Amino acid sequence: MSIMKNVTVGEFIVESQNNFPGSTGELSKILSAIKLASKILSHQINKAGLAKEILGSVGKENTQGEDQQKLDVFANDTFINALSARGVICGVASEENRSFIAFNDNVNNDAKYVVLIDPLDGSSNIDVNVSVGTIFSVYKRQSKKGQPVEMKDFLQSGNCQVASGYIIYGSSTMLVYTTGSGVNGFTFDPSIGVFFLSHPNMKIPKEGKLYSVNEGNFAEFCPAIREYIKFCQSEDLSTNKRKYNSRYIGSLVADFQRNLIKGGIYLYPSNLSHPNGKLRLTYECAPLAFIAEQAGGRAISKDKRVMEIPPSELHQRVPFFVGSKYMIDHLEEILASER
Ligand code: AHG
Ligand code: MN
Ligand code: MN
Repeated sequence: MSIMKNVTVGEFIVESQNNFPGSTGELSKILSAIKLASKILSHQINKAGLAKEILGSVGKENTQGEDQQKLDVFANDTFINALSARGVICGVASEENRSFIAFNDNVNNDAKYVVLIDPLDGSSNIDVNVSVGTIFSVYKRQSKKGQPVEMKDFLQSGNCQVASGYIIYGSSTMLVYTTGSGVNGFTFDPSIGVFFLSHPNMKIPKEGKLYSVNEGNFAEFCPAIREYIKFCQSEDLSTNKRKYNSRYIGSLVADFQRNLIKGGIYLYPSNLSHPNGKLRLTYECAPLAFIAEQAGGRAISKDKRVMEIPPSELHQRVPFFVGSKYMIDHLEEILASER
């Protein structure tokens, strides 16, 4: 696909906003803040191999007991600063913070949106030069405008998302987002600091050839998941070839993006060390589910759409299965037969 140099993400956002009469431009400003923070982070990530002071662990664990990388902290600060500076959201919840942050001042309290964010996804890969990402979602607040935000503003089911997206810092940096009318992808040109529309109206193939799961946990998966993985590994009798190929990076955004473009299924089921799966409903699963569905794919967690799960706590984890429609349909049948 050739990059259409004539449409920048900024222009695209303004044009999309013009399609919604009465739009106040607040959502556009949020997306601009995210765009700015992602450029700063992209720059920092690109030089990570040279600048040893930004690599490695801070020697502390985050609120979920996971090792915090220096770039986790940098990414968290960068996004929160960009979002708080513009008076366009009233609060933010981040995977790296124990609770949400209320931007409690006159300007921000009048804003109507909140943002949830995984500032640096796949951060354990940063030291080995493997793609990492950022995942975000935007919701309308439930509490009254003019007051400080409350927990209920952040615990809304994925169906209530106004926008979601991710940035992948890979062989190139890309921003992919949806506001509920399709999915569009933009590739960053670092020489001039601009994202250009490179992947308009992204659609995930209905059937794919890839399955992505941490197979090291195979023995700990429930029988239905083991059965499905064995199916993926089995031979297609008409071609004498394995049905699907395995691809697993261990950076959710990168695994998701590859499957979105090529077609495939991503699974993070429960296992012994993670009885509810490892991935977080609010920061990872719901935003990617919104994108998958908007691209014609599906995202489920055991017996329901990820988008329908009301979070009961900020850092809640859920089993996560996302990808090509027919592959998820098939997995869903196997999961149902086990119940
Ligand atoms: P994060 O870096 O935001 O904590 O997320 C890590 C996640 C995700 O990116 C990845 O897909 C998954 O952890 C990999 O987990 P395993 O190492 O258990 O496969
Ligand atoms: Mn993550
Ligand atoms: Mn993270």
